[in-house]
This record gives sequence, structure tokens and C-alpha cells, in this order.
Amino acid sequence: MNEATIRRCVPGDEHALSLIGQAAFLEAFAGVISGRDIVGHCQRQHAKEKYEAWLSDAQSAVWIAEVDPGRAPVGYLVLTAPDLPLAGVGPRDLEVKRIYLLHRFQGGGIGARLMSEARAHAIARGCRRLLLGVYGRNAAAIGFYERLGYRHLGTRQFKVGENTYDDVVLGLDLGS
Ligand SMILES: CC(C)(COP(=O)(O)OP(=O)(O)OC[C@H]1O[C@@H](n2cnc3c(N)ncnc32)[C@H](O)[C@@H]1OP(=O)(O)O)[C@@H](O)C(=O)NCCC(=O)NCCS
Repeated sequence: MNEATIRRCVPGDEHALSLIGQAAFLEAFAGVISGRDIVGHCQRQHAKEKYEAWLSDAQSAVWIAEVDPGRAPVGYLVLTAPDLPLAGVGPRDLEVKRIYLLHRFQGGGIGARLMSEARAHAIARGCRRLLLGVYGRNAAAIGFYERLGYRHLGTRQFKVGENTYDDVVLGLDLGS
């Protein structure tokens, strides 16, 4: 398979981000959570306007992974100001809001490369921690984050469509 290229997103990338977001969310959660919730969640949370807002927000940064031919989008990571119910969250924290890869492109190191872009960005901005919330039953993603050094900090409830799901909150100390 062709090597993926990772680049920082710019306004105009919202169409590609919305496309991967919906495809990867469906792939990741079909058979795991309610189908109705998946469709509703994708309509609202993976609308291109959602990505447009992040792309024009100075506090957020988005990276996309693309493959040839023709730079097809296969994954992305969204970094934002934190919105997590955790004591002590402050301006020197950032949240990995979303990271998704199409199934065929998982397991080849692209996820780790996206996380490394986010980490370098956070360190360059003088941040203290990277935080994230992940569905408590998403053992594969939790294993991936733990492999990168993330540790359990708490829990939260996360609304997807009509239902609420239990997430764990993980964090990585950036040593600054
Ligand atoms: C989670 C995800 C982003 C990981 O990206 P990836 O490209 O598949 O992972 P990588 O190949 O970069 O793996 C990086 C490291 O994590 C490890 N890892 C990956 N999956 C793992 C698992 N299930 N358990 C333990 N470790 C795991 C890898 O072994 C690798 O470690 P190594 O360098 O020592 O070999 C990707 O699989 C994905 O998009 N999954 C579906 C969507 C999802 O669940 N997103 C998270 C929602 S919060």
C-alpha cells in the first residue's frame, strides 16, 4: 500500500474531513452502538460545517492523512481547546477531539504519526498535557493510546444520537 502523507488542514478541507469522519465512524461503531445513533451522530457531528468551524478556529488544529493516487483522504486528527469534565483542566491543556482512520489504513503507523503531529504542536505551544475522551468499550483505541503513554484520568458520559455512552478520559503529560 502507498505511504500516506500527513499535512495540516486548511479551510476547504472540510468536505474531505466530513467524508472520512462519517465513513470511519460508521466502520468503527456499526454492530457496537445503535445504528440510529450512528446515523444521527454523523449527520450532526460530522457535518462539513462542524469541520469548517474547527478549521477557522485559532485554538484548533487539524491534520489529514492522504494516499496516492490523487491524495485520497484516509484519516484525520482534530486538536481543540479542552472540553472535558476533569478537575484542573486549563489553558495549557489541549484535547485530541477526534482521530479516525479508514479500516484498511489502520495498523500501519498512520495513527501514531497523527498523534505525533498533535504532540509536537502542543509542545511548541507550551502545553502541559494532551487529553482525550474515548468510548470505554473501544478497547483497540484505548490500547493504542496506552501504547503511546496515555494514562487513565477519569470518566465522562458522551451523548451519541439518543443515547449516552460511558467514556474514559485519558491524558499524556508533556513534561513541561
Ligand atoms: C485508533 C487508531 C487511530 C490507531 O491508529 P493506527 O494507525 O491503527 O495505529 P498505529 O498503527 O499507528 O499503532 C501505533 C501503536 O499502537 C499500537 N496499537 C494499535 N492498536 C492497538 C491495540 N488494539 N492494542 C494495543 N496496542 C495497539 C500499535 O501496536 C503501535 O505500537 P508499536 O509502534 O509498538 O507497534 C485507528 O486504528 C482508528 O482510527 N480506529 C478506528 C477509529 C477509532 O476508534 N478512533 C478513536 C476514537 S476515540
